[in-house]
Amino acid sequence: MKVVIKESYADMSRMAADIFVEIINQKSECVLGLATGDTPIGMYECLVEDYKAGKVDFAGVKSVNLDEYYPITPDNEQSYRYFMNYHLFDKMNINKADTYVPDGQATNVAKSCEAYEKNIDALGGIDVQVLGIGRNGHVGFNEPDCELYPYTHVTDLTANTIEANSRFFESEDDVPKQALTMGIESIFKARKIVILASGEGKAEAVKAMLGGKITTKCPASLLRLHPDVTLICDKNAAKFI
Ligand code: PGA
Repeated sequence: MKVVIKESYADMSRMAADIFVEIINQKSECVLGLATGDTPIGMYECLVEDYKAGKVDFAGVKSVNLDEYYPITPDNEQSYRYFMNYHLFDKMNINKADTYVPDGQATNVAKSCEAYEKNIDALGGIDVQVLGIGRNGHVGFNEPDCELYPYTHVTDLTANTIEANSRFFESEDDVPKQALTMGIESIFKARKIVILASGEGKAEAVKAMLGGKITTKCPASLLRLHPDVTLICDKNAAKFI
């Protein structure tokens, strides 16, 4: 894994956006793997800035998102579909029909997950995937466990993640208890992965990802096995490396 330590969140975000812009400019019909959470917001702001400055065109770009709460409606402000529209898609010229987020309203969850996975393959796979890292080392909603699911699936959220995400909801009780998430193998199919970490709260997770055992108990540590992963973190997240 290539590791880049940046002075600040802004520098980390700029570098990540530059990687994405370069890929889009080389391949106008590329497939972006996108993530939600606080961490990539700065990168999305940079992408919007670059779009407005005429440095990048999203007209042919397609995107697939890592995960979504379940159940949740797309107009719920806490849904990841809403997040993506708000922070990125509504601010540039991507064709919304070409943006995919797991269906938080699916009635047949197993079928919907299978279709989501097939769609990633039908799109030709992900050219570049951005990831955040959870304080417990999760990626997407692949939570630490003795074994992990390879493909898109429904999963129970851990108490740790419910607590971490409750800051976005009125109360902890309002956080959905399940999510749909791409699995580790779905993520590994991405040709290139950029993982972002910012702030001291992520320092332990970054240390475990890079320096501990490669284990499903720290899902992010598995990324060390992928041939093209760049970790971009700020100084605070890099405190223990
Ligand atoms: P965050 O979440 O970007 O909001 O810190 C990352 C994650 O939990 O994967």
